[in-house]
Amino acid sequence: MEKKILAIACDHGGYELKEAIKAYLDGKNIEYVDFGCSGESVHYPEYAHKACAAIQSGQCYRGILVCGTGVGMSMAANKHKGIRAACCSDTFSARMTRAHNNANVLCLGGRVVGAGLAIDMVELFLNTEFEGGRHQTRIDMIADFEN
Ligand code: RB5
Repeated sequence: MEKKILAIACDHGGYELKEAIKAYLDGKNIEYVDFGCSGESVHYPEYAHKACAAIQSGQCYRGILVCGTGVGMSMAANKHKGIRAACCSDTFSARMTRAHNNANVLCLGGRVVGAGLAIDMVELFLNTEFEGGRHQTRIDMIADFEN
C-alpha cells in the first residue's frame, strides 16, 4: 500500500497550534514531515513553499499549514501548481473542501481557532473522500487557469 505522509508547516503565528496538531497525529500514528518553523519569527510564504514543494514532488500526499489566520498560508499555497488549499474555520467547510473541492492542503489560523476545533477539522480533512463527478469538472476548470 502507498505510504501516505502529510506535510505540515507553520509560521510563528501558527506554531502552538501546529504542535497541538502534531500531538494528535502522533497519537493516531499518522506519519508527517514537519517543515518548520520552530516558533521563531519567520516569513510564512517560505514555509508554505517547503510543504507545497513536498506535495508537488510526491513526497507527501496532503498538507496542513498554520499561520496566524490561515489566510497568508492559503494565498501562498494556492500559487503552487496542483495545490488546492482551503483556509477553514468551521467543520462544515473542512468536510466540503474535501468532498467538493478535493483540497490537498488545509490552512488553519492559530489566532482564530482553538486546538479542539482545529483537530476536528484535521480529522475531516484527512477522512473525507472527494465525491468526483461534476466536482471534478469544476476542479479541471480551475486547473486550466494554471496552464
Ligand atoms: C504573522 O504575524 C501573521 O501575519 C501571519 O501569521 C498570518 O496570519 C498571515 O496571514
